[in-house]
Formats: sequence, C-alpha cells, structure tokens
Amino acid sequence: MDSFEWNKIFGAVLGTGLLVFALKLVGGGLFTTEAPEKPGFAIATAEAQTADAGTAAAAGPAASLGALLAKADKDKGAATAKACAACHDFTKGGPNKVGPNLYDVVGRGIGTAAGFGYSDGFKAMAGKNWDYDALNAWLKKPSDYIKGTKMAFAGIGKDEDRANVLAYLASLSDSPKPFPAP
Ligand code: HEC
Repeated sequence: MDSFEWNKIFGAVLGTGLLVFALKLVGGGLFTTEAPEKPGFAIATAEAQTADAGTAAAAGPAASLGALLAKADKDKGAATAKACAACHDFTKGGPNKVGPNLYDVVGRGIGTAAGFGYSDGFKAMAGKNWDYDALNAWLKKPSDYIKGTKMAFAGIGKDEDRANVLAYLASLSDSPKPFPAP
C-alpha cells in the first residue's frame, strides 16, 4: 500500500467523521428537547381567581353591603346602569325589553315582572325576593347566582360599582326600601 492509498483511507474516515458531526449539529437544531417555559395547559382563570381570593383574604374582611350602600352614589350607579339599558327599561309602567322592566325591583319577587318569559332558572327561585343581598350577589355574577339564566351579562366586579347601581335601582321606586344597617 503506498502513501496515496493511505491518504484515501484517512480522507474517507475524516470525511465520515465530519458528516456525522454535521448531522448531529443539524439534528440538534431541529429536535431540541428543552422544556417550554410555561406548560401549555395552565388554567389561567382558575389561578387568577385563587390569587384574587388570596389577596382579598390578606386585605381583611371586605366592607359590609350596608357600609358600601351608605357611601354609594346613585348618580354614578345610573351611569354604570347605562350598560343595562340595552336590555332593561327602568321607568314606571315601562315595557319589558330583552330583560324585564326594572322599576321598583328592590324588594320585588324574583321573576315576577308581568308578561315577561323568564328562564327555568328564574322559575326555580319563585317565592324569593330581590332584597339588597340577593341583588348584590346576582349582579356580581348573574350566571353563578341563577344557573341557566338568559341574562347575557358578565357581572359587575367591583363592590363599590355594584353598590352604586343598587343605590340607583333603589331610587327607582315610589317608596325606596331602606338600606341594610352597615
Ligand atoms: C344582554 C341583556 C341584558 C343586560 C345587558 C342586562 N340584563 Fe338584566 N336581565 C336580562 C334578562 C334576559 C333577564 C331575565 C333572565 C332570565 O329569565 O333568566 C334579566 C333579569 C334581570 C333581573 C331580574 C329581574 C326580575 O324580574 O326578577 C335584574 C334585577 C336585572 N336583570 C338587572 C340588571 C342590571 C342592573 C343590569 C346592568 C348592570 C342588567 N340586568 C343587564 C338581560 C340583560
């Protein structure tokens, strides 16, 4: 075997080595196995709610509804209630729209506006009244308070905003119902 033959053999071995090395580089680039920074299936809403609950607990007990109502501003509530007017009429003797008329709703029986076709969830509440606590819970998250309601409204998250709306609703009456004690 002369040196030229050896050169060919070394060349072949070196070439194969280079090829393997190059394939590893390319392969490594294509098929990384690094873990994603965040798992793809994090359930954001559930976590956010837990976090909220934690913060609320840390901040101490929330103000009572009576205390919130004592400070409530019905004019601000009227402004917030513009969001309701797409579906509700607020005037005495006014019509039902997508939702029932809301004049004098505080203290009224749940699901009792004449001539309105309520959902089954509402019919199941028959005999109960819209006192301030019930309205407050309802407006916080309607779909939680009455399962299967057809009121397509997410709710009013802030306690103060809800209290303002309740004060506004209370004012829509010939004899406004007194607020609960703070
Ligand atoms: C997209 C339309 C829509 C919006 C917006 C809406 N509602 Fe309603 N609301 C309804 C419907 C529909 C019902 C009847 C629900 C059922 O039968 O399940 C209802 C029912 C109610 C009831 C119960 C009344 C009764 O006779 O028992 C109250 C109180 C109420 N809404 C208040 C409000 C307030 C306050 C707002 C605004 C902050 C609001 N709604 C926004 C559609 C709406």
